[in-house]
Amino acid sequence: MNTEILKVDRDNLGGVSMAHAGEIIRSGGLVAFPTETVYGLGGDALNPKSSKKIYEAKGRPSDNPLIVHIADLDAIRKIAILDESCYEIKDIEGTVNRLAEAFWPGPLTIILKKTDAVPYETTGGLDTVAIRMPSDKIAAVFIRESCGYIAAPSANISGRPSPTKVSHVIEDLSGRVDMIIDGGDVDIGLESTIVDLTEDRPYILRPGAVTEQMLRAIIPDVTVDKGLKKDSDAAPKAPGMKYRHYAPKGELTIVTGDIDRVIDYINDRAQVCKADLIKCGVICPDEHILRYKAPVVKCTGRLGDEEAVAKRLYSILREFDAEGVEVIYSESFDSDGIGSAVMNRLIKAAGHKIVQV
Ligand code: TXA
Ligand code: MG
Repeated sequence: MNTEILKVDRDNLGGVSMAHAGEIIRSGGLVAFPTETVYGLGGDALNPKSSKKIYEAKGRPSDNPLIVHIADLDAIRKIAILDESCYEIKDIEGTVNRLAEAFWPGPLTIILKKTDAVPYETTGGLDTVAIRMPSDKIAAVFIRESCGYIAAPSANISGRPSPTKVSHVIEDLSGRVDMIIDGGDVDIGLESTIVDLTEDRPYILRPGAVTEQMLRAIIPDVTVDKGLKKDSDAAPKAPGMKYRHYAPKGELTIVTGDIDRVIDYINDRAQVCKADLIKCGVICPDEHILRYKAPVVKCTGRLGDEEAVAKRLYSILREFDAEGVEVIYSESFDSDGIGSAVMNRLIKAAGHKIVQV
């Protein structure tokens, strides 16, 4: 398949090119597009054939449901049931409206009960549907030019880090989709926060830029899915969270504890790698770069700048792959803000290998 790369001007999106992208979607094709979180691999969410194609292009298991992207709040009514009697949470419509008012357009995905308009191919066989209204201007115009409902997982081959630059999308999906819209680098760099409203109380199924604290201000009884906690035996509620995602090819370990001991530990390991002719890489904040003695050291931005780590993380993991790094050590970035989403992704990329020193 020939993949058209469409370079667009954010400040001038009215032209024929976006209309062409919309036509591709309406005729059942696939278009990768930028959002503020990560690039998405889009198809018509209401066309079961398009959803099947998305799974094929990504190499993704078809029991892992897709997020439906909308550009206008009214669009919810066609795809989600808002009838009080279908929910345990009280005032479901008011809850959705308050969340939308606070966080849409933006990096929040809301799970509701689906209507018959949404095919099971899109929801991975579930009776619920994940909905998000992205804030990226290109995404909004693209959704409106299409059919108003774009099913889109992150635009990476299944198992690779999500794409934050158009070059990542081209690397993974060239020849597998009809068009890639080049909107430059994304803003946030980690996937949206997912909140599920279909159970006894609101659950966070995936942490993201909209933090637990921010959600609590709007829905005070929100809680984090037990399956996401480090030492829990429960399976995560979002099917996608059970897969080993975001994996670099090199073996990644997170090292946590007193910073001087962390640096000593990593430098010792780097020495061992060198002796064994294994290429070793390190992930750390700018301020620590000179203290590491590994052949490849990647910086995440200034110490404590969680947004910068979020933006750089996936790109760094891909760079390690391209440079053939076989063993990677990362400092820990935990915090209450977007740092907790960073750690969630990093821990998964590390297959839960954490060393406390
Ligand atoms: O920021 C994002 O959300 C990006 C951009 C492109 O919008 N999209 C994204 O999609 O991250 P994806 O497919 O990589 O991740 C979707 C996650 C998966 O973990 C999936 O299991 C979960 O959402 N999900 C989707 N529908 C669900 C549902 N009905 N119930 C529970 N989890 C659901
Ligand atoms: Mg993904």
